[in-house]
Amino acid sequence: MRWTMAGLVAVGVLAGAATYMAPTSGADEGAAVPIFGIKLPADYRDWRLISVAREEGKLNDLRAVLGNDIAIAAARRGDAVYPDGAIIARLAWDYTPLPESAAAFGQAQSHVALHPKNGVQFMVKDSKKYAATGGWGYAHFNDGQPGDAKVHGTCFACHQTVASRDYVFNRYAP
Ligand code: HEC
Repeated sequence: MRWTMAGLVAVGVLAGAATYMAPTSGADEGAAVPIFGIKLPADYRDWRLISVAREEGKLNDLRAVLGNDIAIAAARRGDAVYPDGAIIARLAWDYTPLPESAAAFGQAQSHVALHPKNGVQFMVKDSKKYAATGGWGYAHFNDGQPGDAKVHGTCFACHQTVASRDYVFNRYAP
């Protein structure tokens, strides 16, 4: 069999693509959180937006709530219960006044997201594995490191407030 130059280039491109894609399509990353055994989902930063939130008081941050493909589809349909495989992420950032905006408007005006804050949190739906906590596993990471058992003991108790909405506070923002 004779290899043509085009054939060799194509093989090279495919091999390159496989190498390039490995980090995003690969396994979840780092150490697992206590209690629920969840690792940081490798590609969560590419997930789509379910909604945004703003926390006052000591938390004082801006938030984005993202869903993987299964969660987004369920949220858009308005399903009463998320299916197994759904993962919801909540990201948070410093709620920061933007000096450039104050200069442009002549008064304090725009607040934007700056540094990540208050960790990154996930809810992972697996109705069998997490039956004891309403079908959701909970995970909290600070700079990619799992939070401790104490913080993971708080999640379900508070999310029980919205048991009638499958333990999810946010609704899909169209
Ligand atoms: C004292 C109550 C409370 C505790 C404790 C708590 N949450 Fe939440 N959580 C909320 C509220 C209220 C929202 C909606 C507002 C927002 O997005 O910040 C929320 C939102 C979320 C969301 C987005 C989906 C949704 O329900 O809207 C995730 C994911 C999440 N929390 C994960 C966690 C994890 C993981 C823990 C534990 C490490 C945790 N939460 C602990 C009250 C709580």
